[in-house]
Amino acid sequence: MAANESAPAATGRLAALGAWIDARFPMTKLWNEHVAEYYAPKNFNFWYYFGSIALFVLVLQIFTGIFLTMSYKPSAAEAFGSVEYIMRDVEWGWLIRYLHSTGASAFFIVVYLHMFRALLYGSHRQPRELLWIFGVLIYLALMAEAFMGYLLPWGNMSYWGAQVIVSLFGAFPWFGGALVEWIRGDYFISDITLNRFFALHVVALPLALIFLVVAHILALHEVGSSNPDGIEIKKMKGPDGIPLDGIPFHPYYTVKDIYGLGMFLILFCAVVFFAPELGGLFLEAANFEPANPLLTPEHIAPVWYFTPFYAMLRAVPAFAGTQVWGVLVMFAAILLLFFVPWLDRAPVRSIRYRGPIYKVTLMLFAATFIMLGYCGMKPAVQPFKALSVVGTVYYFAFFLLMPWFTRIDSHKPEPSRVRP
Ligand code: HEM
Repeated sequence: MAANESAPAATGRLAALGAWIDARFPMTKLWNEHVAEYYAPKNFNFWYYFGSIALFVLVLQIFTGIFLTMSYKPSAAEAFGSVEYIMRDVEWGWLIRYLHSTGASAFFIVVYLHMFRALLYGSHRQPRELLWIFGVLIYLALMAEAFMGYLLPWGNMSYWGAQVIVSLFGAFPWFGGALVEWIRGDYFISDITLNRFFALHVVALPLALIFLVVAHILALHEVGSSNPDGIEIKKMKGPDGIPLDGIPFHPYYTVKDIYGLGMFLILFCAVVFFAPELGGLFLEAANFEPANPLLTPEHIAPVWYFTPFYAMLRAVPAFAGTQVWGVLVMFAAILLLFFVPWLDRAPVRSIRYRGPIYKVTLMLFAATFIMLGYCGMKPAVQPFKALSVVGTVYYFAFFLLMPWFTRIDSHKPEPSRVRP
């Protein structure tokens, strides 16, 4: 503002600029539709923080990723050294790298909690099936993104982790060998593999993730948000057409989400600044040594967010020297998630009104998933082998028997208005 210009005159100029843009681009329309006049249920609780936190972590990963790419060298000869250079010589490089490596684990923690919320309150149920499907696609893209990213530092665990996981595709009869070669682009994990994983990690998969997240949010805004009571607020509208139990997203939930983000950042920064390796859980010891095709790490295990599925893979014994059934079980465990909106047949959505069967089976499911994750980190010896088998059977039973036990379970009547 010029020194002699009054505040109202400056506001007038800003409004004129806004009108100029609005005549050419739907800025105010988009803001109103998706923020200021998006009516969300007034009873969101703790579990509703994780969508916006996931959005924040996605932006953080892209932002820190761009800065890492400025100093990283995607070649087998230079990758490991370039990461050391970032950590030691690049101004604030250590912080950028730790934000990115901790961000990867944080992303999965937040997304797992976000998915669990859907199972708690039935957010995946009709009419939000497509929203859920976009979510499962995001989860798949995120797994691919994390897997490819893990190869980039070219540490010994990067190398052997990729070697083990990519070789799994070789278990398929007939085309397995050709598929593995096609993925690696070579007869072993090499410079060529590193180059293509780099391209996918920094361009293709982030683009896919952004596209899917936009689709996820558009689908959410098309049907409207669900809530901890699992009832549709759109069914009870006032004379103005606004849901009686709805409040504008801005300022109410922008403020709530900023608070949630603050809490998240306290925990996140505590890890980044005081324990970025988190005892080998977020950054593994073997990855501080450069990749060595002649030296297999003593115990190869993927990063914690993949270990529940890795435990399932190992739970299935290899018949006639082929691991193909284990690989199929592992992929089936993830693909099953697409069908959850149709597997759940309860007449009510929220856990608040469901009967004891769903409450107990869901809590056991969460405990089993954590147990599988733990078993997947451990060497394939007893009791972890036996526990992995039990966990895998329970994981599949939970989803495959869901149509039956959600139907026979008792339920309480849903209220017509959301609870305060
Ligand atoms: C990058 C990852 C993701 C981002 C940025 C994201 C973002 C969001 C946001 C902002 C919301 C609205 C706020 C909220 O309900 O918390 C939401 C809702 C939802 N998300 Fe996600 N999401 C992600 C991944 C997933 C995944 C992996 C799933 C499931 C497989 C999923 C399923 C859902 C469902 C069912 C809702 C509707 C909740 C309701 O209305 O009650 N999301 N998501």
